[in-house]
Amino acid sequence: MIVVIGDLVADLIVLGGGSLERGTDNPAEVRLTRGGSAANVAVAVAPQHPVRFIGRVGDDTIGRALVGELEAAGVDARVQREGRTGAIVVLVDAVGERTMITDRGASAELAAIDPGWLAGAEWLHLPLYGFAGRASRTALTDAAAAVSATGAQVSLDLSSVATMRELGHDALQAVVDRIAPTVLLANADEAAAAAELGLELRDATWVVKRGGEPVLVEHAGERSEVAVRRVEDVLDSTGAGDAFAAGYIVAALGGSDPRESARAGSELAMRALRRPGAL
Ligand SMILES: Nc1ncnc2c1ncn2[C@@H]1O[C@H](COP(=O)(O)OP(=O)(O)O)[C@@H](O)[C@H]1O
Ligand SMILES: [Mg+2]
Repeated sequence: MIVVIGDLVADLIVLGGGSLERGTDNPAEVRLTRGGSAANVAVAVAPQHPVRFIGRVGDDTIGRALVGELEAAGVDARVQREGRTGAIVVLVDAVGERTMITDRGASAELAAIDPGWLAGAEWLHLPLYGFAGRASRTALTDAAAAVSATGAQVSLDLSSVATMRELGHDALQAVVDRIAPTVLLANADEAAAAAELGLELRDATWVVKRGGEPVLVEHAGERSEVAVRRVEDVLDSTGAGDAFAAGYIVAALGGSDPRESARAGSELAMRALRRPGAL
């Protein structure tokens, strides 16, 4: 069982939301989809491996609909329900670049996780978004410690430069030290922010995605590049990094080495790039 803990929110994807004219109507294609990095990873894993999602949604209609969608996708969803479900507006421009307006709502209030929900975890994946608030940071750190103690692996996606900076060096380093991830995932901007903050990776395998450029993999002191089949017609990159994480984790759990796992991650990411919203 792969367990993913973090956000499940509504994504309002605005295709053609690159340049807005203030004070008037801006016609665009607007789609309401399931979002949240952790939920996206869980859905991308589901066709390949048993997966459980743990998170928090509001006690509201949209929260129930989102959980239903995860279950329909084959995800074992365990959620705390209180308050208001989070929502993110994603403005997608002509080249697929995204600008986000974020309100994590209930996701940001994740409380201590029922230990029973962690039973059977072979691998735990955590996007950094979940570590933004102090309460959910404690819940996630405790869950990671409990899962690691059973011998399971943990992966951490650095997820967002804004979240990294908000945490700052000390809190971010404390997260890495306490959850001791076997794999740390980042994109080029997050890797630069990690270097700038002086983050020490300890023994983690370091996987840096660089868009259509080769993925950098640093494992056991050795650095190498893994070629990516470049997508020229990117429609929307929402969830591509989450699809990468899903592909990587499933491969690694199946015994693939970090390079092979990065290749599997890139292949799944390509699929997300060619559709609106996440997989
Ligand atoms: N043009 C492209 N061709 C192929 N793969 C790409 C391209 N652009 C991005 N990717 C892949 O999509 C994924 C995006 O991951 P990341 O940068 O973490 O995105 P996100 O912002 O969704 O978290 C990576 O696996 C990256 O290699
Ligand atoms: Mg990412």
